[in-house]
Amino acid sequence: HQPIRIALLGCGVVGTQVARILLHERRSLARRVGAELTLVGIAVRDTTVPRDPAIPTDLLTADATQLVENADIVIEVMGGIDPAQSLIEHALASGASVVTANKALLAQQGPALYERASHENVDLAYEAAVAGAIPIIRPIRESLAGDNITRVLGIVNGTTNYVLDQMTRHGLTLDTAVADAQRLGYAEADPTADVEGHDAAAKAAILASLAFHTRVHLDDVACEGITKVTAEDVAWATRSGHVIKLLAICERTTHGVSARVHPALVPTTHPLASVSDAFNAVFVEAENAGPLMFYGQGAGGAPTASAVMGDVVTAARNRVLGARGAGESVAADLPISAPGDA
Ligand code: HSE
Repeated sequence: HQPIRIALLGCGVVGTQVARILLHERRSLARRVGAELTLVGIAVRDTTVPRDPAIPTDLLTADATQLVENADIVIEVMGGIDPAQSLIEHALASGASVVTANKALLAQQGPALYERASHENVDLAYEAAVAGAIPIIRPIRESLAGDNITRVLGIVNGTTNYVLDQMTRHGLTLDTAVADAQRLGYAEADPTADVEGHDAAAKAAILASLAFHTRVHLDDVACEGITKVTAEDVAWATRSGHVIKLLAICERTTHGVSARVHPALVPTTHPLASVSDAFNAVFVEAENAGPLMFYGQGAGGAPTASAVMGDVVTAARNRVLGARGAGESVAADLPISAPGDA
């Protein structure tokens, strides 16, 4: 088979690790796919910024549009809505498959993008958008597609879990712990998205949409972050046998679907209480399967790159076979409770 041309958009914490894997694992990836995966370029805003030595400077370009037009698979790990959205649309329109980790974009424009991909008969995959390394999109979309999911409950933001854990175990202040999370590569470029709960809310919208076969928009998710959590709250929680966790709660009730994010008191005996550092965990309850738990590293370069690469290998295999991956179900339109109704 012809080599598969891969374009990488973004070279931050995740992009650097994706490039490293594509370059270092070239041979084994080729064997797994049945074709070479050739990294043809890495689009960045500024090609002169010093980067990780693993990144060959001759691959860097500031012309993302041209790069996208000459690729079979486009990996978008730049984040944000603009220009990520227009580049992804351009990639799909050019017949490329797209792999993205962009939860903010999917939570706002997901349905339009899935429809576009379906229309162009290409893959749009986003395992890395929710809970980093943890396989959660495919299990919900595919493995559980024949069951009825009733509830998804999760710790889906590594930064806030790290911060709350540091406040609980070491008595750190919120600001100090956030600075550590940034240094460790967990936090978003603007950590406000983490601490205000917006990042978790985007993930809740994606999970609720998939789990309940409907369209939950970011605006439908009631959201409260961790900025009001004080050292006194943490101490009180500890004394009463609890830990404070930022939870994403997606439920199907008799009134429809609801999704919300807020700090919650979790008894120390509950499995979610022991999720420490930047780890994530997602509980899924389904009528026939019963309870399921997914656990692993929810943020950081290499863990998130692992999920990106899984999608890249799948999309590449599909190209070799002339196939497409599993589609999205967007048929049902269940009523969605307004934020605050829950
Ligand atoms: N900032 C995010 C987090 C990265 O802390 O979970 C993973 O989406």
